[in-house]
Amino acid sequence: MPDYILAIDQGTTSSRAMIFDARLQPVSVAQQEFDQHFPQDGWVEHDAEDIWHSVISVVRRALGDAGLTATAISAIGITNQRETTVLWDAATGEAVHPAIVWQDRRTAEFCDRLHAAGHEPLINERTGLLIDPYFSGTKLHWLLDNVAGARERAARGELRFGTIDSFLLWRLTGGKVHRTDATNASRTLLFNIHTQQWDDQLLELLNIPASLLPEVLDNTADFGITDPSLFGAGIPICAMAGDQQAALVGQACFHPGSVKSTYGTGCFMVMNTGTTPVQSGHRLLTTVAYRLAGETTYALEGSIFVAGAAIQWLRDGLKLIRHADETEALAEQVGDQSGVYLVPAFTGLGAPYWDPLARGAILGLTRDTGIAEIVTAGLQSVCFQTRDLLEAMQADSAMPMSTLRVDGGMVVNNWMVQALANTLGVPVDRPQVTETTALGVACLAGLHVGLFTGLEDLARHWDCERSFAPVMPEARREELYAGWLDAVERVRRPAH
Ligand code: G3P
Repeated sequence: MPDYILAIDQGTTSSRAMIFDARLQPVSVAQQEFDQHFPQDGWVEHDAEDIWHSVISVVRRALGDAGLTATAISAIGITNQRETTVLWDAATGEAVHPAIVWQDRRTAEFCDRLHAAGHEPLINERTGLLIDPYFSGTKLHWLLDNVAGARERAARGELRFGTIDSFLLWRLTGGKVHRTDATNASRTLLFNIHTQQWDDQLLELLNIPASLLPEVLDNTADFGITDPSLFGAGIPICAMAGDQQAALVGQACFHPGSVKSTYGTGCFMVMNTGTTPVQSGHRLLTTVAYRLAGETTYALEGSIFVAGAAIQWLRDGLKLIRHADETEALAEQVGDQSGVYLVPAFTGLGAPYWDPLARGAILGLTRDTGIAEIVTAGLQSVCFQTRDLLEAMQADSAMPMSTLRVDGGMVVNNWMVQALANTLGVPVDRPQVTETTALGVACLAGLHVGLFTGLEDLARHWDCERSFAPVMPEARREELYAGWLDAVERVRRPAH
């Protein structure tokens, strides 16, 4: 019996394939970046073909590097950048427009109108989300209204909508299967998280025909089988999950109150709240953590749009550094004393502010501010934004956070993780395997094919690599954070 698992992790800036053995040890990994398109202020697009080709190429490379053929893989798990919206032709599989990326703000005005008309309480109650361009629903509405002929073609049943998981599943199965999972569905603004069904009233509100929508399954299910022509043999796709939910699983946050934060392009803090959804009083999102055997576990989530992307901007935009790994040494030189704050509101502010019109700023510059200070402020911005989320989460859940588990590309930076513990005043744990997104979906796929007996079995595979205890005096922590709150107030442009 083959017992390798292949995880496809389709992220915002790159696609990755990772093969794990039956003990969840990584065997091979392949990664490919693809182009980002910024056609207008606040717009972000991906070419769906770039996404598709990058996925196929990383899967083939990962198999080749591991010296395995498709028949050695018992299951595929797909995890993905969430909310990014694709509308495609059912006959050809071709997208009718570039994918509109989760960061894209083009529907800010439409969102304002929905707000002004008083729809937020209904949307929030049904979906756990807020009205913001971040989610797929208003992006899909935009596509239907702005792509010539799209509404007519949708009415004739010729088009399909999906987040990236769905689009990949459609392509991987040779256009046979149109499905998604409950976590991805819960990010569309169209899905009722209580009934676990697409919500007719919301579909009507956003003028979305139900015929466009995929069938919603648990996170572990028989999603489909890959077309044999792709990898040499058909491989069953047994798990799908949004990347942040997959990371929650990879971090073994299975008990109510356990929290993880992932530092990729953005930063997403997710707290498991158990089988009852917790409604946020502080503008966090209530979302599906995972749905297994028909039982839904919920989470509270704080989403911030720019974390690693701030460092990418310092590297590629300002060209202050050549590699992200230079940031650690620069920050060590500066420490936390400079008084410079960088607010990376390039595409507005996410939780808990939800201000799509805010834009970034660097404040507190003096004549002796240099590259090192600005780079350090970039790292600190990630810590302060995490603190914003922590404050909101603790106020909502009444569960004190005992530790935070972190993962994602940025957490190799020891200075950043120590600064995070200092800023939060809470110990921060870094796991052995920081590729928790891929690991999480591999865990789910492995569960489905019986490699693991259940969540407790999976939790036994989680190991802490290093725990960072806070070492900053309380007064200093509060002084630095007050400076951040002041900086944020200066860039805000609340529209309502
Ligand atoms: O909600 C967006 C999120 O899923 C994107 O994650 O890791 O691609 O930045 P990432």
